[in-house]
Amino acid sequence: MLHRCITVVLTLFVCAVSASAQNLDSLLSRMTLEEKLGQLNLLSAAGENGRPSTDQVALARAGKLGGLFNVVGAENTAAVQRVAVTESRLKIPLLFGLDVIHGYRTIFPIPLGEASAFDPDAAQATARAAGVEAAAAGINWTYAPMVDIAHDPRWGRIAEGSGEDPYLGSLLGAARVRGFQETIFATAKHFAGYGAAEAGREYNETEISERTMREIYLPPFKAAVDAGVASIMSAFNSISGNPASGNAWLTDTVLHKEWRYPGFVVSDWTSVAELIAHGVAGGASEAGRRALTAGVDMDMQSGIYVDSLAALVRANRIPMAVVDSAVKRILRAKMRLGLFKDPYRARTAPPIAETRTLARRVAGESIVLLKNDRATLPLDKNTASIAVIGPLADNKAEPLGPWHTMGQPDDVVTVLQGIKSKVPASAQVTYVQGSGIEDSSTAGFAAAVNAAKQAKVAVLVLGERGDMSGEAASRSDIGLPGVQQQLLEAVAATGTPVVLVLMNGRPLTFEWAVEHVPAIVETWFLGVEAGNATADVLFGDVNPSGRLPVTFPRSLGQVPLYYNHRNTGRPYDANNKFTSKYIDSPNTPRYPFGYGLSYTTFAYRDLKVANPRVKATDTVTVTVTVANTGTREGTEVVQLYVRDEVASVAPRVRQLKAFQRVSLKPGESRPVTLRVAARDLWFYGLNMKRVVEPGTFRVYVGSNSAEGQEAVFEVIR
Ligand code: BGC
Repeated sequence: MLHRCITVVLTLFVCAVSASAQNLDSLLSRMTLEEKLGQLNLLSAAGENGRPSTDQVALARAGKLGGLFNVVGAENTAAVQRVAVTESRLKIPLLFGLDVIHGYRTIFPIPLGEASAFDPDAAQATARAAGVEAAAAGINWTYAPMVDIAHDPRWGRIAEGSGEDPYLGSLLGAARVRGFQETIFATAKHFAGYGAAEAGREYNETEISERTMREIYLPPFKAAVDAGVASIMSAFNSISGNPASGNAWLTDTVLHKEWRYPGFVVSDWTSVAELIAHGVAGGASEAGRRALTAGVDMDMQSGIYVDSLAALVRANRIPMAVVDSAVKRILRAKMRLGLFKDPYRARTAPPIAETRTLARRVAGESIVLLKNDRATLPLDKNTASIAVIGPLADNKAEPLGPWHTMGQPDDVVTVLQGIKSKVPASAQVTYVQGSGIEDSSTAGFAAAVNAAKQAKVAVLVLGERGDMSGEAASRSDIGLPGVQQQLLEAVAATGTPVVLVLMNGRPLTFEWAVEHVPAIVETWFLGVEAGNATADVLFGDVNPSGRLPVTFPRSLGQVPLYYNHRNTGRPYDANNKFTSKYIDSPNTPRYPFGYGLSYTTFAYRDLKVANPRVKATDTVTVTVTVANTGTREGTEVVQLYVRDEVASVAPRVRQLKAFQRVSLKPGESRPVTLRVAARDLWFYGLNMKRVVEPGTFRVYVGSNSAEGQEAVFEVIR
């Protein structure tokens, strides 16, 4: 019976697929060349108040538009959709895109912050919630997740991704794709290598070997493809001279031929036209030809495909088959989304209050406790007097971060508000701004110092403006901006214990604080619930469990600095000058990848590899006992790293291969089991083929990438 049912279901599925394939072919056969190129055209709404312009509506009517983005509100999307599906000759519906990055109206932590939670379920939940809110506003396609791996904190867009690790980045990217795609289409971006911009300077060229591309930058895209991502956005940067938006190796060979990616590729904003500035095309039609034949199916904002390519197709300089396969990919996506049956997709979102509960929980998980000497934290709610100081302490705009879509400052709970809501009315909470974020005035210092002198503890909330990270926001100095460092020093000089709360979109350098301030909390940009989540941690209602998804350097001079580097032929040796090091700085980071403290302590013991000799098709099972050795319940992120001891290509010193969030009561200990499939121990060999080489592997299990218990296992033939 079961067998029959499966057969029926499969038959229905096959019938449905071939029915839509037939529909697709018949639709394609009725399209003029101009209508085909129209499907490849994507424009940002250029009218008033989030509406498309009259010209854009006319394009929709003429069948010269495949989609619009930045249209605001369900009424506006419905109005132009009505034109497309009732007034255009073939009645093909439009896609409506938007950068829903970390929330639509309810803003969650920036992706880099959320990555600190090491919690794919949380990432999926916030993406789902963002998708639901966006869908209610007529959006059916987001330009997220950004899955670019980044090693350089100067690059502002490090804020939009999951940090430096391809394994963590793959899990979170795939989770976000699944979350968004419960309601709207997702886009994995920017394909590929954008995060390797030289010197961290936005849009800069990249020099990436094929091996590094395949081992570090591509895996999160592959994970997104495996999770069923509907679209992929090609990047702005060139890779060893070949711009990503006209790079047939990336978008055709790897994506379509190797990975059999069935979705479509959309360019980044005018990245097709930018092939001219890159110097690989002499004019618009050459740029369009290169991009389209490379596999970039949809042209965002250049207008080149629709305006300049018909003549080239007619002159046989672009095969019609290339146009047809791009059009088919886009039409297939529209079918998959159900747009032909339900072009308006009217949806309602749950009340914002419900989504905020999720926002507060995930924001709490995203906070990383970096330092906590003498148990400065958590604060006692009955502390008689607290000075809350700093340009970000009562700021409602910046916690929304660099790309906050429809997020409203009025929705944001500030750190000052969060603190006030925790303490009894009798407590004296004094707020002084002290300085601006970037300006040079020290006029507010005296009041700040005065407030600190009168208080039992001073909470300083310092960091960056939201728009100091994100797109076009590279920094050549990653210290605290403006006079905030001096403000911190002046307040610390009072002798009142200082808690430094950081709000920022990238790793910062703050060596003075590390030496002089007893407690440091990294909060990133946490979104609408920033103040509540921060106060939850400051007062111990939430025990911090976030771990850094990116290395924090001691100084910018160490950058690029990441944990999964190779060993060199002369690894660091303190007693040997002629080894790989600086004469003026340690090699080690300020805080390593995976690092984060808790209000309790954890101990590891009894690391065991259950099967220390495995075949390449087997899975290695590792167990370790983790104990909560402190006095509070807490969550540890148990991390497993692997090192290939000898390989034909110099192996990386460590690579994250598994992790697990484990909650333990005080005194509780528990065996934790982590598994690594031996096939995941691959790298690209000398012949540039993916290989798992037999031999000994060292496994490390612990609290971060710089420590851990060790054991070995062997992969045998
Ligand atoms: C960004 C993309 C974004 C696009 C559309 C570009 O400038 O690089 O990440 O999706 O604009 O807004």
